[in-house]
Amino acid sequence: MTTPVSVADRADAIEQQMSDELDVLYTKSALANMEDGRLGPSGMGMAEQVKHPGKLFLIGDDPRLPKMPAKPTLLDYFKYRARGTMHLLQSATHALNANMPEKTIVACLLHDIANALFIKSDHGYWGAQLIEPYVDEEVSWAIRAHQALRFFPDESVGYKYPVLYTNYFGEDYVPDDYIQEAYKRAREHKWYMTSRMITVHDIYSFDPNAKVSWEPFIDIVGRNFKQPAEGLGYDNSPVAHMWRTIRRPTKYL
Ligand SMILES: [Fe+2]
Ligand SMILES: [Fe+2]
Repeated sequence: MTTPVSVADRADAIEQQMSDELDVLYTKSALANMEDGRLGPSGMGMAEQVKHPGKLFLIGDDPRLPKMPAKPTLLDYFKYRARGTMHLLQSATHALNANMPEKTIVACLLHDIANALFIKSDHGYWGAQLIEPYVDEEVSWAIRAHQALRFFPDESVGYKYPVLYTNYFGEDYVPDDYIQEAYKRAREHKWYMTSRMITVHDIYSFDPNAKVSWEPFIDIVGRNFKQPAEGLGYDNSPVAHMWRTIRRPTKYL
């Protein structure tokens, strides 16, 4: 008969095995562990080194992740750190085909950037913050507001509450108060329609045979995203650390 193993013990065992097999010691952040239902960071401290004599903690690039250039661009982050860019390309392509203004196309292209390479919870807020220093204020405002607008229909532009959300969250789901408040504020805002267009072009079911690529968006990104010469993460902007963390999520400190 085998002894039941807890989720935490199993996670520890996996971390142990990983450190055994590799040249460096990996830690996990409190947030990464919380996503597995555990509290606090793990794999840290001298005790770990005693368990793995001669090994050092990772304090740079994670060799398990794709190597990034020294001065990464927005597209480098999509190339080397993201999954889920199909959804962004599909939404932006839909906006492009509808002859939307460039600001709206960029907002559609980047609206779920947080989901693609950072974090899901409150993704509209995180995504807007991540790109705020590099885009027109209207673009980041629209991305932030789409977090709330997704939950509220606007028949004037044919936007209905997504069936997908009923499937995902149940018939009785009511958005949190802060989302309802954000919706009311956005409704009154001069850029409401820009954000609303993100929801209109936010495509979940798309022709699987349709071809989408970055190609039509390279110049649009060039005109609308102020790529820092030092590379994203190294320009001393208020969000540079967020990009560095995406680049090196397991750096010890
Ligand atoms: Fe979204
Ligand atoms: Fe989306």
